[in-house]
Amino acid sequence: MARTIETNITEEDVKIEGTLRPRYLKDYIGQEKIKENLKIYIEAAKQRGDSLDHALFYGPPGLGKTTLAGIIANEMGVHMKVTSGPAIEKPGEIAAILNNLQEGDILFVDEIHRLNRQVEEVLYPAMEDFAIDIMIGKGSSARSIRLDLPKFTLIGATTRAGMLTAPLRDRFGMIHRLEFYTVAELKTIIKQSAGILKVSIDEGGALELARRSRGTPRLANRILKRVRDFAQVKYDGIITEEVARVALDLMDVDKMGLDHIDRNILSTLIFKFSGGPVGLDTLAAAIGEDAGTIEDVYEPYLIQNGLLNRTPRGRMVTDLAYKHMGLENKIPE
Ligand SMILES: Nc1ncnc2c1ncn2[C@@H]1O[C@H](COP(=O)(O)OP(=O)(O)OP(=O)(O)O)[C@@H](O)[C@H]1O
Ligand SMILES: [Mg+2]
Repeated sequence: MARTIETNITEEDVKIEGTLRPRYLKDYIGQEKIKENLKIYIEAAKQRGDSLDHALFYGPPGLGKTTLAGIIANEMGVHMKVTSGPAIEKPGEIAAILNNLQEGDILFVDEIHRLNRQVEEVLYPAMEDFAIDIMIGKGSSARSIRLDLPKFTLIGATTRAGMLTAPLRDRFGMIHRLEFYTVAELKTIIKQSAGILKVSIDEGGALELARRSRGTPRLANRILKRVRDFAQVKYDGIITEEVARVALDLMDVDKMGLDHIDRNILSTLIFKFSGGPVGLDTLAAAIGEDAGTIEDVYEPYLIQNGLLNRTPRGRMVTDLAYKHMGLENKIPE
């Protein structure tokens, strides 16, 4: 069963994300600390006529890492080349990409934790000294020559910061964790997107969608689009609180924005492990999910909202989780 609140990007999102993605810092809602830092860095780099420090953004999917990279490129007035960890297989490929950059350009590497070791090793001198060493010739006549690169900015994004190697991580001048968005911030994003998509939505409707967006702008936009369709077919086209509530209940997104996987995590903990504590791997096996994915994608939101605790002895549900599951009165087997 597909998750309505799948936070990873889906085909459906690609179509709308292009039009909804903010292009400048002023339109990027929330993440105030990051924005403040970036403003200063960007201003300073521009004043010096210099490139920006390498930056790493990490956090759960759909919080705006790719968007930020694009905004930095726009604010700096430079080109951005986009690639991803798994897309670069050989050292020669990354060398070619780097060599084709222009002074000041941004190289955005998504899923940077998935770069292979040899490719990563090309990046070390590239990031530090703006140079790469390439081998010429074979056997005894082989020698390495150093090739100078334009001064570029690497922006890395990852949902799994813990999987980054220390030498790579150390080469970033800026490392920022993206936070879940508040309901108020999501409401602003929803209203902004509704304006662009020409969707009619009232305050109550925007608030209800914001509450159920799981702290994630990507979901806010996706839910907005789906509820718009629902409002059109079943109601008079305007998204009110009632329309939002009925539509999201149908989509299996509950009042806190949890879906069947989130609730499965909570109910497994409650019914199979008496609420915990239970080790991550055991929990992962019980629900048939990858431990890393639970840790980086599902758990953060549950923890942030006081439904789950990480303790030295394992994961535990909170009183609120019992209450939430009980009130929902909809417990999966
Ligand atoms: N701060 C924001 N303000 C307004 N809209 C935002 C913001 N952050 C993200 N969005 C919206 O959410 C969508 C998803 O954001 P984005 O693709 O940047 O997430 P991501 O963190 O790169 O996700 P992933 O980990 O899957 O790559 C964007 O297309 C944009 O429309
Ligand atoms: Mg992204």
